[in-house]
Amino acid sequence: MDFSKTFNDYKEKVEAYLEEISSFELPNPCYFSKLQDSVKYSLLAGGKRLRPVILLAACEMAGGNTEDALPFAAAMEMIHTASLIHDDLPAMDDDDLRRGRKTNHKVYGEATALLAGDTLFVYPFEIMAKATKTENQAKAMQIIAYNTGVMGMMGGQQVDLSYEGKPVTEEIIVQLNRLKTGALFRAAVCAGLSLAGASQKELEAGEKYGEYLGLAFQLVDDLLDDDPDADTGKTKGSDISQNKSTYLSVYGKEKCLEMIHTCTKNAEKILTDTFLEKAEFLITLTNQLETRKS
Ligand code: IPE
Ligand code: IPE
Ligand code: MG
Ligand code: MG
Ligand code: MG
Repeated sequence: MDFSKTFNDYKEKVEAYLEEISSFELPNPCYFSKLQDSVKYSLLAGGKRLRPVILLAACEMAGGNTEDALPFAAAMEMIHTASLIHDDLPAMDDDDLRRGRKTNHKVYGEATALLAGDTLFVYPFEIMAKATKTENQAKAMQIIAYNTGVMGMMGGQQVDLSYEGKPVTEEIIVQLNRLKTGALFRAAVCAGLSLAGASQKELEAGEKYGEYLGLAFQLVDDLLDDDPDADTGKTKGSDISQNKSTYLSVYGKEKCLEMIHTCTKNAEKILTDTFLEKAEFLITLTNQLETRKS
């Protein structure tokens, strides 16, 4: 398998689809084209596109059809982008830079950025509902909704905000990470598997894999915030200046690196044990993410 080629093929399919669905025709006359501009500004601004790629790869790993999975993959990226637009707002992390350019609210204003995030939370459910004809597709949509909401990413963002500048226990920091970031990774894996009609055993393995992958991913994100060599397209030192409770702030770099390695190895083992050679792409991706600098 040519990893880079496969990754780029998935990514290109997702980007073409995102371009198509965000270029919807507006009424004439239209008094809200600013909102469409704001949505496209953030959605089509690059980004690693990991969650949709993971959804497509998980679907293929379990023998599913990636063409039919595209609306669900695109939905993951829309929801993720919405979470970033809101995460950057002054009321949350107050950041000026995202994906190498000004944050949405710096260009369009806070009110429009709120609406762009709202749009990118709702539109994916319209897209998925239109594409849903089978039980497995309905289940994938439910997995994505659950992990986006209060029991997933949104709940995690609340923990993140509630514990800014406050002492945290390991239990709190684990819940923070597994919800705010882990939930969308678990959703990408499990929705992809579900679309392929995976067995209960495979879904359970996918859930555990997504858990370790998400934890490792957020641990690396926390380290990159304070890494002079990183190329994140975000303002460095944002967590420190916002007094965020992160693994790095609590445990320091060495322990974080150790945990990232353990999570990566656990993630790899679960994939290998359950999906054997079909897991090659996701295993390579998981290992590459351990040492990412962007
Ligand atoms: C950033 O996610 C937010 C976190 C959950 C840490 P990514 O690092 O995947 O951001 P993009 O999509 O590549 O911009
Ligand atoms: C964000 O976590 C998780 C989201 C749900 C957006 P961070 O606040 O650490 O993400 P970055 O560092 O701004 O991308
Ligand atoms: Mg945040
Ligand atoms: Mg942030
Ligand atoms: Mg961060």
